[in-house]
Amino acid sequence: MDMYIDRAVCIIFMVLLSSSGFGLAGDIVHEDDVAPKRPGCDNKFVLVKVPIWVNGVQSNEYVGVGGRFGLNLESKEKHANHTRLALADPPDCCRTPKNKLKGEVILVYRGNCSFTTKANAAEEANASAILIINNETELFKMVCEANADLDIKIPAVMLPQDAGENLEGFMGNSTVSVALYSPKRPAVDIAEVFLWLMAVGTILCGSFWSAWTAREAAIEQDKLLKDASEEYLLTEGVGASGFVDINTTSAVLFVVFASCFLVMLYEFMSAKFIVVLVVLFCIGGVEGLQTCFVALLSWYVYSSSLYPSANMLVHRYCMCMVLPFAS
Ligand SMILES: *[C@@H]1O[C@H](CO)[C@@H](O)[C@H](O)[C@H]1NC(C)=O
Ligand SMILES: *[C@@H]1O[C@H](CO)[C@@H](O)[C@H](O)[C@H]1NC(C)=O
Ligand SMILES: *[C@@H]1O[C@H](CO)[C@@H](O)[C@H](O)[C@H]1NC(C)=O
Ligand SMILES: *[C@@H]1O[C@H](CO)[C@@H](O)[C@H](O)[C@H]1NC(C)=O
Ligand SMILES: *[C@@H]1O[C@H](CO)[C@@H](O)[C@H](O)[C@H]1NC(C)=O
Repeated sequence: MDMYIDRAVCIIFMVLLSSSGFGLAGDIVHEDDVAPKRPGCDNKFVLVKVPIWVNGVQSNEYVGVGGRFGLNLESKEKHANHTRLALADPPDCCRTPKNKLKGEVILVYRGNCSFTTKANAAEEANASAILIINNETELFKMVCEANADLDIKIPAVMLPQDAGENLEGFMGNSTVSVALYSPKRPAVDIAEVFLWLMAVGTILCGSFWSAWTAREAAIEQDKLLKDASEEYLLTEGVGASGFVDINTTSAVLFVVFASCFLVMLYEFMSAKFIVVLVVLFCIGGVEGLQTCFVALLSWYVYSSSLYPSANMLVHRYCMCMVLPFAS
């Protein structure tokens, strides 16, 4: 009876799992309470988009992460200035670089000194922002050390290693300009609404489908009325009437549960929650497999048997197999 619900749960878990990727892609790096905070060093680790123009033609867009220190960025791309990019000389930018800058964005490499030292040196050289290239493919959350000079009036953004390599390659023979902005997370994500509609749509379809199946079963039962045994009718009758009742309640409960689940998924996304999700998905998968086996088996026995008593046997066998799993 709950098989349709289970199936719907399975589908929704699959949708959630496959969509969590795109849900996170445009997301903002979450608040981190582990890294210490103090005045001048209390920014959130926000996601920063870095579209680039090579010789005036828009090319790639890189994604970086803002540091604890430095100025906050614009949230709209149209408000972000297109600014020329310059490679620091020396590239680690641990001393004030030799570059003659007039508000360019400066590209520097990680290492040899602290992030705040680099940012201060870049500000002294009149850079309008500093892009720090990581020495690994992942991003790194830039924090400040205990005695750092935190009077930094330019934005500081960390970029992954490959972005740095590409940018340096472009700068070899072309003029590269960048725009830095940090999109705000909308209060209600379109993806969230879309997923919710999908969840509700699935459960509605499931309900219509099972109601339709129940009606078909009732019609078939009417046909069998004349030549079937009483016991058979009794069990079938109880099954058919219980069918729709349980479905409606579970459907409503499920919609409520799924809505709460989606809110939790978006608000409290964490590694532990993903583990819970995977476990639930495994349970759903096992149940789905069970359903398939039962259906196959009953179809096989149905087609190889001509007697109603054998049908009943299959039915009982199926119930025995399904009941321990159906909650
Ligand atoms: C863009 O450039 C103008 C003029 O140079 C400046 O006043 C403004 O602050 C800049 N905006 C950003 C976001 O850097
Ligand atoms: C760090 O300093 C050494 C020695 O000056 C230099 O060879 C190296 O390239 C520097 N590292 C970075 C990331 O610039
Ligand atoms: C990257 O740089 C940091 C700081 O200089 C260093 O601790 C780390 O080992 C480096 N990682 C790699 C993969 O070189
Ligand atoms: C930075 O700009 C100021 C004002 O335009 C100028 O006085 C100063 O010399 C510049 N610094 C460098 C390192 O070019
Ligand atoms: C710049 O050099 C790269 C290879 O290093 C090449 O693919 C590209 O076409 C060059 N661009 C210009 C404008 O010369």
